[in-house]
Amino acid sequence: MSFDPTIRIRTDVAKMEAYTPIVPFDVLSARLQRPPEEIIKLDANENPYGPSPRIYQALANEGYYHIYPDPDSNALREALSDFLSVDKSHIMVGHGADELIDLIMRLFIQPGDVVIDCQPTFGMYSFDTGLNSGQVLRVPRRADFSVDVVGIEGATANLPQPKLLFLTSPNNPDGGLLNDADLRYLLNLPLVVILDEAYVEFYGKSRVKWVEEYDNLVLLRTFSKWAGLAGLRVGYGVFPAAIISHLWKIKQPYNVNVAGAVAALASLNDLDYLMKNVEKIIAERERLYQALTQFEFLRPYPSQANFVLCRVLGRDARQLKLDLEGKGILVRYFSKPGLTDHIRISVGKPEQTDTLLTTLQHLTSQA
Ligand SMILES: Cc1ncc(COP(=O)(O)O)c(C=O)c1O
Repeated sequence: MSFDPTIRIRTDVAKMEAYTPIVPFDVLSARLQRPPEEIIKLDANENPYGPSPRIYQALANEGYYHIYPDPDSNALREALSDFLSVDKSHIMVGHGADELIDLIMRLFIQPGDVVIDCQPTFGMYSFDTGLNSGQVLRVPRRADFSVDVVGIEGATANLPQPKLLFLTSPNNPDGGLLNDADLRYLLNLPLVVILDEAYVEFYGKSRVKWVEEYDNLVLLRTFSKWAGLAGLRVGYGVFPAAIISHLWKIKQPYNVNVAGAVAALASLNDLDYLMKNVEKIIAERERLYQALTQFEFLRPYPSQANFVLCRVLGRDARQLKLDLEGKGILVRYFSKPGLTDHIRISVGKPEQTDTLLTTLQHLTSQA
């Protein structure tokens, strides 16, 4: 055949680099040649305690898997409205917060439009900008990972004027916070500000009510981390009225599947159980942080999330990740500017921390 169909592919997509996702357990198990129970997975900020046991009963009792889900996620939005003390009309549920990041881009970004990305941060903001033919304007964080407010303000004078600003608090990968004064300042710039609070339950203080105060603030949250539902893909956004009305027009009707919605509802009905796990993770984060400070070659950063970022001194961070992987312990290494000498460790159960620490000690004595 003479016709090459790939010449019809969008040129920007053809040039795009593939996103490298974290691999799931079974794939990992085959790759590392270890049974899943011998793998300590601390690379994707998942919840080591898993979901509420109540979701299994709720999933077993659900009788409508053969019927399309409610496109408006009414039951879940009502429960979220109680949980957040925010009117239901401001809430939209997504197939993970990831879907909502893409949906927001689809609403605002036309080819060439500019999105401000405060790197290092969550990779999906720049990935989705590219996917939606936007341009990423990097305003790098400072050495302590705080947001460069002056840099962002300066960027708003550029042409074309940036449309969106993604902020994350606590930030992934360092676990640091954006303070109130900086957020207020940034909200007064001519930008739509998306505040991603995927990890906020591990800090405790959300800005969700600020959406009632600011017409240009969008807030994103998820069931993936605190509720242990990463595999079921349920996230949500809280939006100003003028924005959400347009989002409803472009959302895929059946974006939230029946199982995800049932499990998310059951999670909201088991807050005591889940919040106890969150408390355990917070306590373990502090223990992990303290223990990591004892290693001469590691400089952990204080974190308000369910992970600890460490600078690696005097040895190769990528090799350290590979050495740990060889022992069945997965941590995250990023080959990205500003992070090449870092590893990020998700908080696990106490016994997983113990194995990690013993393995690190063993690796130190070998060095
Ligand atoms: C900052 C941040 N936002 C959003 C997400 C994705 O959330 P979800 O699993 O709901 O798509 C993550 C996942 O790692 C994250 O780190």
